Amino acid sequence: MLVLGIETSCDETAAAVVEDGRRVCSDVVASQVLVHAEYGGVVPEVASRQHLATVVPVVNRALAEAGVAPRDLDGIAATCGPGLVGPLLVGVEMGKALAYALGKPVVGINHLAGHLAAVFLDHPGNPAPPAYPHLALLVSGGHTLLLRVDGPARVKALGATRDDAAGEAFDKVAKLLGLGYPGGVVIDRLASQGNPESIGFPRALPRREDLDFSFSGLKTAVATRLRERGLPEQAQMPDFCASFQAAVVDVLVRKSRRALKRESLHDLLVCGGVAANRGLRAALAVAAEQDGFRLFLPTPKLCTDNGAMIAQAGTWAIERGERAPLDLSVDPGLPL
Ligand code: KG4
Ligand code: ZN
Repeated sequence: MLVLGIETSCDETAAAVVEDGRRVCSDVVASQVLVHAEYGGVVPEVASRQHLATVVPVVNRALAEAGVAPRDLDGIAATCGPGLVGPLLVGVEMGKALAYALGKPVVGINHLAGHLAAVFLDHPGNPAPPAYPHLALLVSGGHTLLLRVDGPARVKALGATRDDAAGEAFDKVAKLLGLGYPGGVVIDRLASQGNPESIGFPRALPRREDLDFSFSGLKTAVATRLRERGLPEQAQMPDFCASFQAAVVDVLVRKSRRALKRESLHDLLVCGGVAANRGLRAALAVAAEQDGFRLFLPTPKLCTDNGAMIAQAGTWAIERGERAPLDLSVDPGLPL
């Protein structure tokens, strides 16, 4: 079964072909980062226009790299939310037009369900995917969620952020530090050369027993420190980034451990752009060793937005018999 996945919910135009819900035949991502960097963040209208210009070439390249003719596809999957309305519309209209022209089924995929599906794709070394039920920590630019996953379409939220998402905290702090947009990758790189204990930033654990997150206090602590002491010298930047990153990672790891124990689960899946963070990956590996749970992390390229994860979730949806009508629309606030 060959499924084309199209992802345009934010600032990456992505398309991929996945075979049998496992093998990634192609995975093309055209990033708009350079276009938006000038503005210090994603400008929705600019993003829509970029998607319009690149979606056809990106889909063509995904098909060509997979060596697949459009008529060989068994179905098409496009992200229909949550995300930016204009960008989502470009991908969904592309998917529907292709499906109509080819006489193939099309399905609308929830972006978050796509992130949850990424680790089920073939991975280097071929580790087996997590068993159901498992716990998922979904950490992206727009979401921070702890989920109990009983099946591909059976998900229950256990905890969520009350304010900023983890990725948003990385991006906002990077902006305060003058490190540009998007900030996660830059902080990750600088943090790897710094001392995480040099500054004791606050760990937000509102009401110790719950599974919710809050990152706005940490962001304010960073802003206050910068106002009082000015920007750190170049040489101090790695220590500053390492200390900030440790504060985020600490809370994510502690709440994941608590959720695993509370739900008596033994498998932890971590996904979304922030799951690419090396500090988080290392801290989770230590926790897994200490607590004896199994850890599942997509390869870094499959943590950030891509078409393969949408094709994967699309394969499951098509196998379940789901079909979207040709008036399928988008929902910027689509819940999981
Ligand atoms: O999943 P994603 O690509 O898009 C959304 O669905 O939001 O996540 C993007 C977020 C951004 O906030 C970005 O700064 C963050 O993931 N991110 C990282 C890293 N790579 C991407 N954060 C920390 N460390 C990284 N290596
Ligand atoms: Zn995403």
